[in-house]
Amino acid sequence: RVAVVLERHLKVLHLCLFVEANLIREPLVVFVCATTGQGDPPDNMKNFWRFIFRKNLPSTSLCQMDFAVLGLGDSSYAKFNFVAKKLHRRLLQLGASALLPICLGDDQHELGPDATIDPWLGDLWEKVLELYPVPIDLPVIPHGVPLPSKFTLQFLPEAPNPSSKESCLAISDSLGPPSESQPFLAPMVTNQRVTGPSHFQDVRLIEFDITDSGISFAAGDVVLIQPSNSAAHIQQFCHVLGLDPSQCFVLQPREPDVPCPPGLPQPCSVWQLVSQYLDMASVPRRSFFELLACLSPHELEREKLLELSSAQGQEDLCEYCSRPRRTILEVLCDFPHTAGAIPPDYLLDLIPQIRPRAFSIASSLLVHPRRLQILVAVVQYRTRLKEPRRGLCSSWLASLDPKKGPVQVPLWVRPGGLAFPETPDTPVIMVGPGTGVAPFRAAVQERVAQGQTGNFLFFGCRWRDQDFYWGDEWQELEKRGCLTLVTAFSREQGQKVYVQHRLRELGPLVWELLDHRGAYFYLAGNAKYMPTDVMEALMSIFQEEGGLSHPNAATYLARLQRTLRFQTETWA
Ligand SMILES: Cc1cc2nc3c(=O)[nH]c(=O)nc-3n(C[C@H](O)[C@H](O)[C@H](O)COP(=O)(O)OP(=O)(O)OC[C@H]3O[C@@H](n4cnc5c(N)ncnc54)[C@H](O)[C@@H]3O)c2cc1C
Ligand SMILES: NC(=O)c1ccc[n+]([C@@H]2O[C@H](COP(=O)([O-])OP(=O)(O)OC[C@H]3O[C@@H](n4cnc5c(N)ncnc54)[C@H](OP(=O)(O)O)[C@@H]3O)[C@@H](O)[C@H]2O)c1
Ligand SMILES: Cc1cc2nc3c(=O)[nH]c(=O)nc-3n(C[C@H](O)[C@H](O)[C@H](O)COP(=O)(O)O)c2cc1C
Repeated sequence: RVAVVLERHLKVLHLCLFVEANLIREPLVVFVCATTGQGDPPDNMKNFWRFIFRKNLPSTSLCQMDFAVLGLGDSSYAKFNFVAKKLHRRLLQLGASALLPICLGDDQHELGPDATIDPWLGDLWEKVLELYPVPIDLPVIPHGVPLPSKFTLQFLPEAPNPSSKESCLAISDSLGPPSESQPFLAPMVTNQRVTGPSHFQDVRLIEFDITDSGISFAAGDVVLIQPSNSAAHIQQFCHVLGLDPSQCFVLQPREPDVPCPPGLPQPCSVWQLVSQYLDMASVPRRSFFELLACLSPHELEREKLLELSSAQGQEDLCEYCSRPRRTILEVLCDFPHTAGAIPPDYLLDLIPQIRPRAFSIASSLLVHPRRLQILVAVVQYRTRLKEPRRGLCSSWLASLDPKKGPVQVPLWVRPGGLAFPETPDTPVIMVGPGTGVAPFRAAVQERVAQGQTGNFLFFGCRWRDQDFYWGDEWQELEKRGCLTLVTAFSREQGQKVYVQHRLRELGPLVWELLDHRGAYFYLAGNAKYMPTDVMEALMSIFQEEGGLSHPNAATYLARLQRTLRFQTETWA
């Protein structure tokens, strides 16, 4: 349908690969961009970003271009969809014409980014079809008929020899450090619960052996881990879809320009596809129901699926899926006739790919050579559904037990949002409640090993005997004069005490460090309320201790941010 028309007029321009100067010749461009860090463009957009903000671009550079900007963001971050908004303004400045207002996708919405994207796409197609009507010679695919699948699965009569080169994961002969397409299979060395046995939160200190991996990192870097589905879920999925997990297939794109997903072996077994690729533990989107309805041979189930994918059915979809966080696997079990009839060719169109999860590296190579440690909070919570909801990656990691046999985890490393000063004796103030302390463990280890002084750590947890991560280590470092530790045990008294309360209490010291000794300030942990609360505490310190007015305190904080003396790494 519309997609076919669009494909004729629009190329998919990956901004990471695209030669930017060619933009001048494009008549219609839809920009899809996420915001990362604290209002920053994603890494693969950085070249484009530098190009589009070049001061010497004339204000008429893009006057032949119609465009639309679709932003992917999360309103729990202070700079919501900052990149998309800035790009939209810049394109207008360069003479391009906006086909329609910017779309601001929001992860925090109950229906996810779809809540704004769906109606916006409707408007977009309308505008595009006005400009580029469907050619009369092109038959319109009727509603309810699925578009062809992106890939075909050609099943093999027998499993290939497992030692054949082709069947190896794209992991071996890597050039350069491990990456998403070539992760390192890191042996897990330990997986230790570090919260008290009766504490409600299960938090793990996990150590990997990275010997001969080519991986190197510094304090503030992040490790990406590619999780798998649990064996029980894989079996249930294969059962409900009528798939034989041991069968092997070769994946082929229908269109010549479409690459196969990196990391999937060729040939691939159904088990490998389901365990490593299909994100059946995620909450399905509206588009999942749309396609499933098209594929359903069962009248009653099809009707229900159509209802859930319709514009009027969105409140029902929210009630059925988004609020209780029902997963794709659970939905498939609720629609057994449809699930059993899904053509395998459509699996990759229907179910999104499992995305890697980021973890702040919690150790330094200077103290633990050939090792990489992380501190993982196992995500588990309840909704109205009987089964508790479990985070895919944290639960999978927690389930792995290196004491029972060798365990390997696919991972790679990338720079994080925190970088520490290299100048000797520049003080650092680190604020990390809960698992937010992880990157500061790496920083303290690194700085102490380098003989750097001026390490101030504000740590918050609930009870000193339940979730005081590395308590003994911090106290030992304090005794040696290498660290100043300030704690906030939130539940040990009637009133909550948080890190920001301790910052305020120590306002004169914080001001002295920042204003007189050029300290760097770091903040890591939960993105929800903590960062705003800590920033408010800082603002009041600037006013009370520095005698600044409110606007001047805001300017002072902005200057710290601009000069990288205020850095944050927060996660939702
Ligand atoms: C740069 C960076 C560094 C990070 N560092 C760390 C770290 O050091 N340690 C660490 O533990 N994590 C860290 N994280 C978070 C980590 O990447 C994962 O997001 C986390 O482990 C959860 O992943 P999961 O696969 O277990 O859960 P998922 O399957 O991804 O489920 C998580 C989702 O469940 C939902 N959810 C969670 N709790 C609730 C609730 N109570 N009610 C309703 N919905 C809920 C939310 O939508 C959440 O996004 C970091 C993230 C980033 C981006
Ligand atoms: N999405 C959320 O809103 C949310 C919030 C918290 C935790 N979690 C989940 O819980 C797990 C562990 O989280 P975590 O390691 O980040 O931290 P955490 O262990 O949940 O909390 C660490 C400490 O921070 C305190 N805290 C709570 N609100 C705060 C605020 N506004 N400012 C400063 N401190 C505050 C907590 O106190 P009290 O608990 O006593 O208030 C606790 O003492 C993760 O799985 C995380 O996803 C999620
Ligand atoms: C580390 C991190 C930082 C983020 N920072 C912002 C931000 O500053 N503003 C915002 O609107 N969204 C922010 N987000 C949300 C992402 O933009 C959003 O989840 C988006 O859908 C991610 O798309 P991607 O998975 O394709 O990268 C952030 C997400 C992460 C994980």
